[in-house]
Amino acid sequence: MPRAAVLREIGEPLEVLDLELEEPKAGEIEVTIAASGICHSDLSVQRGIVGVPRPVVLGHEGAGIVTRIGRDVTSVSEGEHVVLSWVPSCGHCAWCRRDEAYLCASGQQAADAGRMLDGTTRLQHDDTHVHQMSALGTFAERIVVPVQSAVRIPNDVPWELAALIGCGVLTGIGAATRTASIRPGDVVAVFGCGGVGLNVLQGARLAGAGRIIAVDTSPAKLALATRFGATDAVNASEVDSVAALKELTGGVGVDVSFEVIGLETTIQQALRAARRGGQTILVGMPDRDAMIPMRALAAVYGARTIRGCWYGSSLPQIDVPRILDLHERGEIELRALISGELGLDDVNRGLDDLAAGSATRSVIRFGV
Ligand code: APR
Ligand code: ZN
Ligand code: ZN
Repeated sequence: MPRAAVLREIGEPLEVLDLELEEPKAGEIEVTIAASGICHSDLSVQRGIVGVPRPVVLGHEGAGIVTRIGRDVTSVSEGEHVVLSWVPSCGHCAWCRRDEAYLCASGQQAADAGRMLDGTTRLQHDDTHVHQMSALGTFAERIVVPVQSAVRIPNDVPWELAALIGCGVLTGIGAATRTASIRPGDVVAVFGCGGVGLNVLQGARLAGAGRIIAVDTSPAKLALATRFGATDAVNASEVDSVAALKELTGGVGVDVSFEVIGLETTIQQALRAARRGGQTILVGMPDRDAMIPMRALAAVYGARTIRGCWYGSSLPQIDVPRILDLHERGEIELRALISGELGLDDVNRGLDDLAAGSATRSVIRFGV
C-alpha cells in the first residue's frame, strides 16, 4: 500500500495516508516515485483557487521508475526512468494532430477530473475513490498513470533535477522559447521569479534576449534571478515596477513581458510595461474570477499581442531530452532551483514555505 499526501478539504493540511493502488490497465504504467517538486499550483489547489475533485493526491512535478506496465504498453519498459508530464496527450485529437499536444482534449479532461484517460480512478482509501492531481499525484510513493504522461530519460539523471523538469522547467523555458517570439537582442521583463519565473529568465537567455529584467518583491529571489540570466532587477516592493521598466527602456517599454504570478495587478503591470507592438505572455495561473485589465484601444492602437501560455507550449517528448542536453552542456541551471529537500511527511511544511516565499523549489525525496 503506497503512502500518499491527500487533500480532503480545501484549506486543510494534506494527510499522509496508506492507499490501495490497482494494477495498471491497458495503456497505463505504474511508477515508483523518486522525487517530486512542490509547485505553486499545488498550493493553489490546496487553497481552492484551482478546483479539482477531492479527495485528491496532490503533486504534478515528478520523476520515478517504471515498476509495472499495463497491456499494450510498448513505449516504456519496467526499470526505465521517466519524467512525468501533467498533460497526457492522446496523440490523435485535433490538438495533438497540430503539434499542440499540451492542449490535448482528452488529456486535459482526464487531468481536470483527476482520473485516468478511461475516466476511472486507480487509488482508494476505505472504499472511497481517491483522485490524482493532473492524472499524476506525485506526492505518493507509487502511482498508476497513463503511459502518455511518461517521458523516458537516461538512468543517470539525478532524481531531484529530473522531477523539476516536469512542470517548472518545461513551463518556464517553454514560455520563453515556444510561446513567445523573442528576437535576438530583445528587452524582456519577467514578473515573478519563483520556480517557474526563474526558468522564464533562462529561457529568455537561450532565445537570445539582450536585456533581461527580473521583477519581484523578494530581494532573495532577485538575487537568485541573476544566476538565471537576469541582467537587471526591479524590486516591486520598493519602486513602481512599470515606471522603472519604462525608465530602463528610455520611455519605450519592453519588447516582451511575462507575468508568472497569476495576479490581476501584476497582469496589468506586465501589460503596461510592454511597448507598442510588444508582447505580453500570461504564464501565472489566475483565480477563476480574475480578468485581463486592459482597454481594448490600447491593444488595437498599440498593436499589442497578449498570449496565454499553457505548459510553456511544450511538447514534453521533444523538450525533456532537449532540456537535459542543455543542462549537460552547462547552458541552463537546474540545481540552483532547489531550496531544500524533505520527506513526504514534511509536505505541509514545504507548502507553507512556498506560501511564505522562503522556498523556491522544495523537493520531496522518496526512498528510491
Ligand atoms: N510583484 C512581484 N512579484 C511578486 C508579487 C508581486 N506583487 N507577488 C508575488 N511575487 C513573486 C514572489 O516573490 C515569488 O518569487 O512571485 C513569485 C512566485 O513564485 P512561486 O510562489 O515560486 O510560484 P511558481 O511555482 O513559480 O509559480 C508561478 O505559475 O505555474 C504557475 O500556478 C503557478 O501561478 C503560479 C505561477
Ligand atoms: Zn506546476
Ligand atoms: Zn490529444
